Amino acid sequence: EQAGKGEYDHFMLKEIHEQPTALAQALEGRIDPENARISLGDFEPGTFEDVSSVQFVACGTSYHAALYGSLTLKQAGIQSDALLANEYSVSAPPIDEETLVVAVTQSGETADTLNALRHAAAEGATTVTVTNVVGSTAARAADEALFIRAGPEIGVAATKTFSSQAVMLTLLGQRIVEDQFGEPAVDFETFLPELATMPSALDDILVRSDAEAIANRYEDSQSYFFIGRGLGFPVALEGALKFKEITYEHAEGFASGELKHGPLALVTPETPVFAVFTGEEDEKTLKNASEAQTRGAPLVAVCPEGHRAVDVADAHLEIPETVPDLAGLLANVQLQLVSYYAADALDRPIDKPRNLAKSVTVE
Ligand code: G6P
Repeated sequence: EQAGKGEYDHFMLKEIHEQPTALAQALEGRIDPENARISLGDFEPGTFEDVSSVQFVACGTSYHAALYGSLTLKQAGIQSDALLANEYSVSAPPIDEETLVVAVTQSGETADTLNALRHAAAEGATTVTVTNVVGSTAARAADEALFIRAGPEIGVAATKTFSSQAVMLTLLGQRIVEDQFGEPAVDFETFLPELATMPSALDDILVRSDAEAIANRYEDSQSYFFIGRGLGFPVALEGALKFKEITYEHAEGFASGELKHGPLALVTPETPVFAVFTGEEDEKTLKNASEAQTRGAPLVAVCPEGHRAVDVADAHLEIPETVPDLAGLLANVQLQLVSYYAADALDRPIDKPRNLAKSVTVE
């Protein structure tokens, strides 16, 4: 097992560091920045012409990637929802032949997600699986599969697969938008070159991150809050999930604007707030974060250098400048590192947290 970890103490840290490679593999042959085109193998242009709505189903970290994918579609004007797979049988929106259901599952074996996928297929939906495992049950059960090519992930807490899922869902979303509206939602001439630089942007973060110092600085806290708006919201949820999974400390993610509707009652000097800034209505997020800071909470801003939040915050986790569609994915890596170092300081069994399994094959 030690051999598999290479120079790292844990698989999780190794897999965090594998993200530049994982993303490069995900993008390989799928984006053509010079000609402003994407190509997704079986998903030829026109595949999704007749789709009237998109439903993403998933659990855990994959659900956060699904929220990310769903939001990019919504922002482009497409009817779309991300749904918890384990709630799907009791809360699915209407499904018909024009519904596209996308099951997002790293392992392709999660029972809740497989059930949702089968339910959707039985109702006549077209189904697609976005997964890491070729030959998995989900890949075989869906009409089509899109592979994220992240390589094996051993740590129970998903890291590199989240980044790869979010990027693949963004690409799939662009194909859907092009099929529906005849043109992509974003300008490919700026977006695709930006996407192509993601592996090196991740590298920059991994080399220079202050996450360990920040994790140590706040290690005696009572609870850890993560906030974000728009595409920063699923990143905040994922930041909190990762933190609680491996540190066993209490952590919650909130939409920034929701903080004042209840959670603010919990805020004290012992509850650091990690705020994710993606370039979408950042002023509002900063205002929400400052309200927590006024109540004594240390504010950790996750944003580029030169961002206004840096002057206000108590600590800063830097991310390279990029477009709002991708900034959250960079912020997520900083939050992964914070969780990792916080758990390491507490001497937790990081790769195998108590009570959790890599893949849950029961309902
Ligand atoms: C388990 C794992 C989580 C994972 C979830 C969904 O609960 O502990 O890390 O996000 O299953 O797994 P999947 O393989 O469907 O992405």
